[in-house]
Amino acid sequence: MRKKIVAGNWKMNLSLNEAFNLIDALVENLQLGILKNTKVIVAPSFAFLHPISGRLRNTIALAAQNCSENNNGAYTGDVSAEMLKDCNVSYVILGHSERRKYHFESDEQINLKLKKALSTNLIPIFCIGETIEERESNKYFQVVKTQLIKGLADINLSNASNIIIAYEPVWAIGTGKTATPQQAQEMHAFIRNEIKNLYNDLLANTIHILYGGSCNAQNALELFKCEDIDGGLIGGASLKANDFIKIIEAAEKA
Ligand code: 13P
Repeated sequence: MRKKIVAGNWKMNLSLNEAFNLIDALVENLQLGILKNTKVIVAPSFAFLHPISGRLRNTIALAAQNCSENNNGAYTGDVSAEMLKDCNVSYVILGHSERRKYHFESDEQINLKLKKALSTNLIPIFCIGETIEERESNKYFQVVKTQLIKGLADINLSNASNIIIAYEPVWAIGTGKTATPQQAQEMHAFIRNEIKNLYNDLLANTIHILYGGSCNAQNALELFKCEDIDGGLIGGASLKANDFIKIIEAAEKA
């Protein structure tokens, strides 16, 4: 049985004070011992990783939203995987559609980032997903398959716990238009089967595949109940303690 994972991607939101308040509210609730089957992760901005790491009290794990494919050097504005380790970061979101769109990250660059994260013992949350045009022209399985194959090229995965996949249909991100549980389940099953083709049965059966895209307190349970959906990567709804806690509770229940 795979445990559920609920990860909050805060993107470029919250002041330091707001971030502290949100973390404190989560830690307080999660310390009530409500969690048996769910791992909780938050991904604040780079600027707040270190101060927030001091407030998590072992209840919540820390993720970054990106990292460089390079070790160190003259890369103004970039942050290395080693620097993230120094901030007590365990996970790193890579290949998010907003990085692909606004920073022109290619599958090849994402592949290098995945390799760098893995070799630094960071667990990548590797995002894939199709645009609305690709869905409407029925290319979505092929698009996701290509992202998977190119992103994971020459990556030897011995243990499914070393990586997390997040299926985030671009048309569902921040739009309030969620994939239906049927649409999401269908794609998650497809991704799991592709992982089997790329690696093996054991890895495919144990790897976590999260859903992201307008997942909220109302629709989380129905999505998380699907056989191949192992939790969520949550944007907007992770910025409000009450909503995020309801999503975590849905993961516990599913
Ligand atoms: P929303 O939940 O705001 O749609 O964002 C999803 C996302 O991009 C998480 O990485």
